[in-house]
Amino acid sequence: MPPLSARLSENLLEQEPRLKIAVQKSGRLTENSLHLLETCGLTYSRGRDQLICYGENMPVDVLLVRDDDIPQLLAEGVCDLGIVGLNVFLEKSNPEDGVRKAVDMDFGRCRLSIAVPRGESWDGPVSLAGRRIATTYPRILSRWLDEQGVDASVVTLSGAVEIAPRLGRADVICDLVSTGSTLAANDLEETTIVLESQAALLAAPQAHSAWAQRMISRIEGVLRVRGSKYIMLHAPRAALDEIRDLLPGSEAPTLMPLEGLDDKVAVHAVCSETVFWETLERLKGAGATSILVLPVEKMLA
Ligand code: PRP
Ligand code: ZN
Repeated sequence: MPPLSARLSENLLEQEPRLKIAVQKSGRLTENSLHLLETCGLTYSRGRDQLICYGENMPVDVLLVRDDDIPQLLAEGVCDLGIVGLNVFLEKSNPEDGVRKAVDMDFGRCRLSIAVPRGESWDGPVSLAGRRIATTYPRILSRWLDEQGVDASVVTLSGAVEIAPRLGRADVICDLVSTGSTLAANDLEETTIVLESQAALLAAPQAHSAWAQRMISRIEGVLRVRGSKYIMLHAPRAALDEIRDLLPGSEAPTLMPLEGLDDKVAVHAVCSETVFWETLERLKGAGATSILVLPVEKMLA
């Protein structure tokens, strides 16, 4: 039987409340967010109402909610972690709530942009002076207008921003653009970017539990691995420095002797940046042979 202290800490861990992660119910980030959590080892069954995914193999549940509500759910302590676009985080959270951005993710890229009716002239942000701008991001937009020193009136809407100019509710809009098809369908032209956004993992101020820390570091691990490759090659000793410099984003490669070959070594390295064909061709040009590039499955720094 394990010592009392170990049993006690095991019990405490069991009694620990379940970690709650908020994810967008349906939209741009939903699929990637759930897939990321699955890659972190979470298996779950979806509740009948489709609003909660109950973790089966960890004390972790996923709440499917409106993305705009996620910062508030974290601030109120209803959820511990959440995945939202940077745009929603900046618009909806108050610094005094203590919700922080824990990790930048590699998906959900989009931009918050100013768009004007097609054919309208545009001379930069000054063209917005005195005009009405429809948006669901009044905070981010107002801050940006201040920075630009432009005085315009912000018309806050709760959705369907793209039709505001046609309805005469505004002159131009400030909205999220990803493929640009919404703008095109509404005869609007993107003119300038107010904010570049991508998904972010947010952590509530109370998210200190062992499971919160564990999920954060697993998510970091998954993201690190996605961009990583394991390279193996044979290198002439004389070309080692050159070859080492060519390996993209690798720290200290491992060097191993090759049986019967004194002038060559095997080089193994984890590369944290994309390995392009051009890189492999350059490595070959520097004298490398038997070059292999392998995906990395898991990594814990
Ligand atoms: C945004 C935006 C547009 C659309 C643009 O809404 O309001 O409707 O995406 O994307 P496109 O350039 O690919 O056409 P989103 O789906 O994020 O909805 P939400 O703001 O209600 O979360
Ligand atoms: Zn939304």
